[in-house]
Amino acid sequence: MIKYSQPGAFEDTRFEKTHNVVFLNSVEGSICVAQEIANLIKSKQEKNKLCVLGLATGSSPIKVYEELVRMHKEDGLSFYNVITFNLDEYYPMGKKSVYSYHYFMHQHLFNHIDINPENINIPNGAISQDELHQYCIDYDLKIKDCGGLDFQLLGIGRTGHIGFNEPGSHYNSGTRSITLDHLTRVDAAPSFLGIDNVPKKAITMGIGTVKKAKRVVLLAWGHNKAVIVKKTIEGEITSEVPATYLQEHHNTTFILNDEAAQELTRLKTPWLVGPCAWTEDLISKAIVWLCDLTQKSILKLTDKDYNDNGMSSLLSQEGTAYDINIKMFNKLQHTITGWPGGKPDSDDSSRPERANPRKKRIIIFSPHPDDDVISMGGTFDRLVEQGHEVHVAYQTSGNIAVSDHEALKYAEIIKDIVPSDPNIDLLIKKINSKKIDVEDDLEIRKLKGLIRKRESLAATRFLGVPDKNVHFLNLPFYETGTIKKNTIGQIDIHIVTDLIAKIKPHQIYAAGDLADPHGTQKVCFDLILAALEILKSQKHMDDCWIWLYRGAWHEWDIDQIDMVVPMSPDQVLKKRKAIFYHESQKDGVMFQGNDTREFWVRAEERNNETARKYHQLGLADYAALEAFKRYHY
Ligand code: F6R
Repeated sequence: MIKYSQPGAFEDTRFEKTHNVVFLNSVEGSICVAQEIANLIKSKQEKNKLCVLGLATGSSPIKVYEELVRMHKEDGLSFYNVITFNLDEYYPMGKKSVYSYHYFMHQHLFNHIDINPENINIPNGAISQDELHQYCIDYDLKIKDCGGLDFQLLGIGRTGHIGFNEPGSHYNSGTRSITLDHLTRVDAAPSFLGIDNVPKKAITMGIGTVKKAKRVVLLAWGHNKAVIVKKTIEGEITSEVPATYLQEHHNTTFILNDEAAQELTRLKTPWLVGPCAWTEDLISKAIVWLCDLTQKSILKLTDKDYNDNGMSSLLSQEGTAYDINIKMFNKLQHTITGWPGGKPDSDDSSRPERANPRKKRIIIFSPHPDDDVISMGGTFDRLVEQGHEVHVAYQTSGNIAVSDHEALKYAEIIKDIVPSDPNIDLLIKKINSKKIDVEDDLEIRKLKGLIRKRESLAATRFLGVPDKNVHFLNLPFYETGTIKKNTIGQIDIHIVTDLIAKIKPHQIYAAGDLADPHGTQKVCFDLILAALEILKSQKHMDDCWIWLYRGAWHEWDIDQIDMVVPMSPDQVLKKRKAIFYHESQKDGVMFQGNDTREFWVRAEERNNETARKYHQLGLADYAALEAFKRYHY
């Protein structure tokens, strides 16, 4: 479902310079784009013409390709008249490498459709340095000879690159070799199992090449893209953000999901754009914004503050600033509780959780074996201390996040204890001779998974959970040995459903973090939603409330929070200790992203920051706060 704008509606906002459409989620946006591509292919077929497609790689277009494959298999869409040109390839890069875009395109699209292999063009990352210059000129000439690109699909990097046209790229650049920006390499690092393995160069179609396409569609999904999407759509054209050159292309559409669009002025501060419907959620968002802008606490906001900042219609709807302020203050005050499982024997009418039953059964779902303590270690501790039956479910083994050095350390300890076991010799040999572009073999994965299992148990024991309440689900979708996971299957859904059905929880805590750079948290959440869908008709589910915590990467915005749990300085230290038990994830972990702080530091800074924001709004001054949003299903 299109969430905010119909095509064409953007002109009204005055801030936006490129046409964009915001979808509720990436699946719906991708299906819409696949449909446009399919229609183009078919219309060309009717005219006996070739259809020339410019294609992208990366995480953004994957669902578009999935849908095109589905249309081929189920609806008979043929690609016999299609000729493709891919945007880019790492350099140097062999075609067979699992890291190559050549491999990616075949895995996601070409192996599953009826395209003539001779019609596939992907820059050759194995071309010699001597031939490279001429090769790039010929790539552009070949596109021209085919009649130019009818349709160009794009993603966008956080540097503002399209293709691999990094900041500084010229508006009329052609296909060429370039040096990758550091941020681009950081973002690619998880797929390459570490930044050191990411090539420093690439071959990319130029901005000029892309701009000659008759139609351009750029996809952007997720919070991580929100800032660059705003700069690209609302900012001035500049070589510092190469995607802004698309403002000059008059048949370009950005297809966004909710999260990627959230920084656009019309969504972030719609009261600055025009009349808006003042819902409860929008009022909260506006007041938090106004406090930040005026550097005032809620109860100090005046009628003038509201009037001066585009919110006079709110005043006329709600009365005076005094009325609005009191309402908002109380709303936030009521999110604060030291009793995340409900306060027994007390009036719960303005508390975030129910008082009864006083002892609740609780499942904390943790996508990786440490998200629980990183994201909600303090709340976890309180739930146990307050006598609830707390279960923890580690959804994946987390094995790929353990380095080979760490695995070797443990393998050698086993060898020291059992020197004559030939299996250990073999394992040590396998670890020592591992190649970087080959996935871990099963035995190595098993060892890495066990390391994470034991670390998790050490942490849950420290927090007082009996081992029998700790569930290692080892969901199969995760077990590929590489960053790319399998699609979720019935078996994954079944495992999660079974656990919920067995425990019959009153509370479920789950990671609602959709910004996880490699998507596991999102998949794990989708699995819980699928399980809830199956179980929702069962009686016990009427009593089950879902609380979402955010993963290691982001915190909820203040206006989104339904419950915050304060931590004393001692509880902050206890949480830190629980995180320390996950030793394999300390010190330069494999999937750090561009945030180089260790997980315990991130967790503490984030919890302190939430406390600081509450205090700034005029609420009590806590050392740290963990935040949750209630999910209604
Ligand atoms: C890929 C490409 C890049 C990506 C961009 C976004 O062929 O040219 O510009 O589109 O880096 O990557 P994802 O989609 O992985 O976020």
